[in-house]
Amino acid sequence: MLGCAVSDRLGADTRSAPEADNARVVSSGIGSSELTAPPLGTAAVRSGLVTPDERWLAAAWPFVRDNLPAPPARVLEIGCGPLGGFVPSLRADGYRATGIDPEAPEAADYSRVDFERYDVRDPVDAVVACTSMHHVEDLGDVLDKVRSAMAPAGVLVIVEWAWERFDEATARWCFDRLAPSGAEPGAEHEHDHDHGWMHERRAEWQSSGKSWDVCCREWAEREVMHTGQEILHELDTRFDRRLLEFGPFYFSELDGVTEAEEQAAIDAGLIQAGRIQYVGGLR
Ligand SMILES: C[S@@+](CC[C@H](N)C(=O)[O-])C[C@H]1O[C@@H](n2cnc3c(N)ncnc32)[C@H](O)[C@@H]1O
Repeated sequence: MLGCAVSDRLGADTRSAPEADNARVVSSGIGSSELTAPPLGTAAVRSGLVTPDERWLAAAWPFVRDNLPAPPARVLEIGCGPLGGFVPSLRADGYRATGIDPEAPEAADYSRVDFERYDVRDPVDAVVACTSMHHVEDLGDVLDKVRSAMAPAGVLVIVEWAWERFDEATARWCFDRLAPSGAEPGAEHEHDHDHGWMHERRAEWQSSGKSWDVCCREWAEREVMHTGQEILHELDTRFDRRLLEFGPFYFSELDGVTEAEEQAAIDAGLIQAGRIQYVGGLR
């Protein structure tokens, strides 16, 4: 998801969660919510029925939905991406939802601008952001604006990636499970999905002669990505934390790996949990 095409769904372990100093983990571990049956499982990805991005959104949706106020609440989704993120599902469930992203679809329910430039006319009941906060330029400014956009009882629902937890063991585990490079961009089939970012990371590491940690950090610095720890810290200085969980992040990018299998590897201490799920409210 760099730029969004999932160029960055990297991640980290439930036991050594990136904790802000003053923060508490309200809960840890993410229940496997992925639908493994067609059309959203890995078989569907292989058959070209769904892309990794669609699979990711389907896996993240239950957490988002379960933490929102009831419809017809007003919801802003920051960084909905070219697929529209959760906006179609929100609208289908009766929410008054708007997606804000320069890469959003050109359609009525979206505003194709950075959130920093979006005119929030009325306070909203919920703000949702899924793997967009680590990309924003000034995280503090964006979260200040989120706070002022929310109604007093408003809810903030965040799904994020703690890239700093994409350690060597986690990277190796992922790289061992990448689809053959024949399915990379440029493949013939219309629905062949973009495995680009993970293949690129592996190729860059192999050719760099550097340690994984250095290679990954240099990449993150080039992309100017906030760490999960920074995001939690900035959230905790502004919002009342109600829920924090860590869990699987990479499965949708991998070949034949389910969310439950990634969770099992986390539980076994083989890899780190890279996904952050957070819910907060105004103080
Ligand atoms: C990794 S993609 C995530 C897309 C989608 N939410 C998902 O989870 O698949 C990150 C998205 O955040 C958007 N984004 C980055 N900075 C933003 C900002 N300041 N305001 C709105 N969107 C932003 C990017 O354009 C990109 O579409």
